[in-house]
Amino acid sequence: MPGTILEVSRLKKYFSQRRGWFSPHSGEERLIPAVDDVSFYIKEKEILGLVGESGCGKTTVGRTILGLTPATSGSILFEGKEITALPPEELRALRSRMQMIFQDLDAALNPKMRVRDILSEAILLHHRLTDAEVERKTAELLEQVNLKASKLPSFPDELSGGEKRRVGIARALAVGARFLVADEPTSALDVSIQAQVVNLLLDLQKRLGLSYLFISHDLRVVELLSHKVAVMYLGKIVEIGLSESIARAPRHPYTRILWSSLVEKQSGEAFRHPHGSAAGSWGVFDFERPAAGCRFAPRCPVFEAKGRPAVCTDPSSAPQLAAAGPAHQVACHFPTE
Ligand SMILES: Nc1ncnc2c1ncn2[C@@H]1O[C@H](COP(=O)(O)OP(=O)(O)O)[C@@H](O)[C@H]1O
Ligand code: SF4
Ligand SMILES: [Mg+2]
Repeated sequence: MPGTILEVSRLKKYFSQRRGWFSPHSGEERLIPAVDDVSFYIKEKEILGLVGESGCGKTTVGRTILGLTPATSGSILFEGKEITALPPEELRALRSRMQMIFQDLDAALNPKMRVRDILSEAILLHHRLTDAEVERKTAELLEQVNLKASKLPSFPDELSGGEKRRVGIARALAVGARFLVADEPTSALDVSIQAQVVNLLLDLQKRLGLSYLFISHDLRVVELLSHKVAVMYLGKIVEIGLSESIARAPRHPYTRILWSSLVEKQSGEAFRHPHGSAAGSWGVFDFERPAAGCRFAPRCPVFEAKGRPAVCTDPSSAPQLAAAGPAHQVACHFPTE
């Protein structure tokens, strides 16, 4: 597709795990369908937000796209090129164009290197430059991420969380990234710093024409900064659409619950499940026992309200993403009007 930087089709990543000694099935292998038939695309200069509860597979999507973990099956086209089966040296070259901002603030920063060296090493990774050029590029990066030059001699553990995050972003830009997977980039930061980092990412996206896959468990943050939003539940995308559609007219019961738990947090008023439990502590969320048919059925208020329709739990009719409006798709047999 012209103008598309990333196109993911039918991506699957299954982990196999041996059960622990305390399990009645100890030693047995189980498969975790952490990413199960996921498709989406991101255009040049576009931000796609990926949202869902902790453990639903968001990080695994990001890591698989960047080749940090091999896909089980499916296709990933980056700048029109299939990258799932690239030889390691070609993948390394490609990494200069696609980078991950890891949730862990320290993941991209060598604790034994000063900020100056972290940045110059990244700048020199794919370019041969003179010392003066490296210095000029370093100054440009500091300006871009709004970091003082006085931080250049510092080691990572001498920096605040916000400063570490800025160095991590500068490092990704230094290697020449055009596409960033930003994995919960604000979750390890103080609330007061979170907005600064979101604004920095937005500013860089506009100034440099970058594209992002922006991962968060917080729909409010995702909606604020993304052009499109994909909602993930137990390894599957259950709804995807323009940010304003997901905000104003969510069609999937899960998306509506994600919003209402936000309302719950904001107003202190608990969203009540038909059986009386509060959102967040309700029902089963477990890859080990994914429900047959629609995986959301054990927690779905619409399923209950409609008297548990058989189609929702029929293994042969798991809901697939289908058009629900302009540029809007939902995977539910009874999408909300
Ligand atoms: N390396 C791994 N080995 C086995 N299971 C994993 C591995 N990485 C992630 N998982 C499992 O895959 C599921 C999705 O995890 P993850 O992608 O980290 O979710 P999220 O980022 O949405 O919190 C979880 O059940 C997690 O335990
Ligand atoms: S398909 Fe049925 S169980 Fe699944 S989300 Fe829709 S109404 Fe709920
Ligand atoms: Mg994660």
